[in-house]
Amino acid sequence: MERDQKKKFYITTPIYYPSDKLHIGHTYCTVATDAMARYKRLQGCDVMFLTGTDEHGQKIEDKAKEAGVTPQEFVDNIVTGPRGVLDLWKLMNISNDRFIRTTDDYHVSAIQKIFKKMYDNGDIYKGKYVGKYCKPCESFWTESQLVEGKCPDCGREVQDAEEEAYFFRLSKYADRVQDLLENTDFLQPRSRVNEMVNNFIKPGLEDLCVSRTSFSWGVPVDFDPGHVVYVWVDALFNYTTALGLCNDKYDDYDHYWPADYHFVGKEIVRFHSIIWPAMLMSVDLPLPKKVFGHGWLLLDGGKMSKSKGNVVDPYILAEKFGVDALRFFLMRTFPFGSDGNFSNELLIQTINVDLANDLGNLVSRTTAMVQKYFGGALPAGCKTWATPEAYDTELISLASGLRDRYEQNMEACAPHKALDEVFKVIQRANKYIDESTPWTLAKDMEANSGRLAHVLYNLLEATRICGILLSPFMPESCEKLFAQTGAAPEVQTWNSAQVWGSRQEEAAVTKGENLFPRIDMEKALEELEAARLAAAAPAQPAIELEPWGEEVAFDTFAQSDFRVVKVKACEAVKKSKKLLKFTLDDGTGTDRQILSGIAMFYKPEDLVGKSLVAIVNLPPRKMMGLDSCGMLLSAVHKENGEEKLNLIMVSDSIPAGAKLC
Ligand code: MSP
Repeated sequence: MERDQKKKFYITTPIYYPSDKLHIGHTYCTVATDAMARYKRLQGCDVMFLTGTDEHGQKIEDKAKEAGVTPQEFVDNIVTGPRGVLDLWKLMNISNDRFIRTTDDYHVSAIQKIFKKMYDNGDIYKGKYVGKYCKPCESFWTESQLVEGKCPDCGREVQDAEEEAYFFRLSKYADRVQDLLENTDFLQPRSRVNEMVNNFIKPGLEDLCVSRTSFSWGVPVDFDPGHVVYVWVDALFNYTTALGLCNDKYDDYDHYWPADYHFVGKEIVRFHSIIWPAMLMSVDLPLPKKVFGHGWLLLDGGKMSKSKGNVVDPYILAEKFGVDALRFFLMRTFPFGSDGNFSNELLIQTINVDLANDLGNLVSRTTAMVQKYFGGALPAGCKTWATPEAYDTELISLASGLRDRYEQNMEACAPHKALDEVFKVIQRANKYIDESTPWTLAKDMEANSGRLAHVLYNLLEATRICGILLSPFMPESCEKLFAQTGAAPEVQTWNSAQVWGSRQEEAAVTKGENLFPRIDMEKALEELEAARLAAAAPAQPAIELEPWGEEVAFDTFAQSDFRVVKVKACEAVKKSKKLLKFTLDDGTGTDRQILSGIAMFYKPEDLVGKSLVAIVNLPPRKMMGLDSCGMLLSAVHKENGEEKLNLIMVSDSIPAGAKLC
């Protein structure tokens, strides 16, 4: 079907701040969006799923400075570097169609055009900003908005801010935004509407400061050098520039805009449901259809944050338990609109109960029985049975109506409820095995093989339908499930999920690997704790030391004359890769020359003026035709297999020639 004939569906995640590595809370939102996007593709929609990174702002500029790199290098490392944002989404099997970085050229110039448009239409004007600024949140606040003098979003200290700035006439749009929130279903869940209206609109919506001059890491206001665009203006418009608004990079704006859904965390609902629609109204663009504000994953009752040191690393969990198990856990356990307490125990318990016991067992028992009793393929004619038992009818009707119940819940953005419906069928199917007792039927195959085949067909059908509806959540595992249960591609479709009996009766079944092995809770918890500690500890380099020397007589040692020497000059020896030539003050009044094979470790100019230690009573040696009168002392070791050398340097207050004893 042509793209234009399909129903289009455009969904986005917030674009992430690459100020730190992402944690399980970020993963939660992206997995939810991915499951929704996959569900819509399963339904046959023409889906555009956008995610990306929001790379400007003072926090990034400060962090880059701390790390001694440019802001661009800093964000590049977190976005494209090892175990960065892109790696994480790949690992988590995120099926985004596009990835935007706000430092992409096309986005930067588009933002400049949009900002200018708002300036030209009178919605942006120049003024003076006096107020408070929360650096971690990149948010401006008025005194009255603070909670106990702190940022109302994150509770951290705010700083005074006063500078010349541009303002956006947010106040002008207050009535229209209030109407949007109160009288349409734009903002979901509904409970968030009161919070926005009562806390932000009713007290009086003030104009928003939309440029800064006190730092430079942002989109420059091209008509007023020195100003950079406020990071939230830059960030919010990503949803449109990534489709091609005000740029030639893409050409999908007319096709996909307005977005069907922005999925966002609850603390950024304010930006998405007040500021974003007001800015779109200002530039006369259609509004997104819905914003869904999901809850937070909490740890020990509090929000995870890098600064509190209580973040959960999705890499560790996905590598340990499998990507699909983690994806499933996130969607199955926490009602999407509310906060939820994350714990490793809960994760393992969910895997063991739902995946290993219920789903895994259903698949392995069913496939094992088809293999054992029918050599891997059921006979033709097993689809129907003339005298069904009540439990046959119950299973079939529950599974046949599953797709509709699932769809209702997915449409209401309640993936946890959709999964609950699927698991009711899985549990019903497991009970069906106990009721129909295939092993008893198998005792008399001559009499019962028809009935037994019918029972197993019903189990395969129930499993197939559940597999289709689970596939947006666990894509890889469901592929394995289809392969094991012999569900051909044409019966893995959305339509076929509603048609009981779609499966070809004689399709081959192969008992494969256990889809979800049971996890030993105690052992896994210990291992996770060890992994957490190892990840938290700074990496210790592997140090290798020289072998210890044999004992020597004290008198032998005492014969060596160690003196402090001062480097007067130092240069590389021509044609030698290793040697440096030192001219040294040894306190005698005559310069001493020593050659030392340390050119790989030091630049000659860095050593001039240093106070070193030399053995001065060795016989002179010729090296590369030059005299070397003594030897400089260094400490040597290997670090991660690499040779390290440090010259022994002593305090400059010690005079040249002082003896070491
Ligand atoms: N850059 C902005 C978004 C701009 S969108 C135009 C931003 N980035 S963020 O990286 O700080 O957060 C991205 C998303 O992750 C937000 O929706 C936020 O709510 C979500 N989460 C961060 N921690 C979370 C939890 N602990 N739990 C659930 N989601 C959380 O905000």
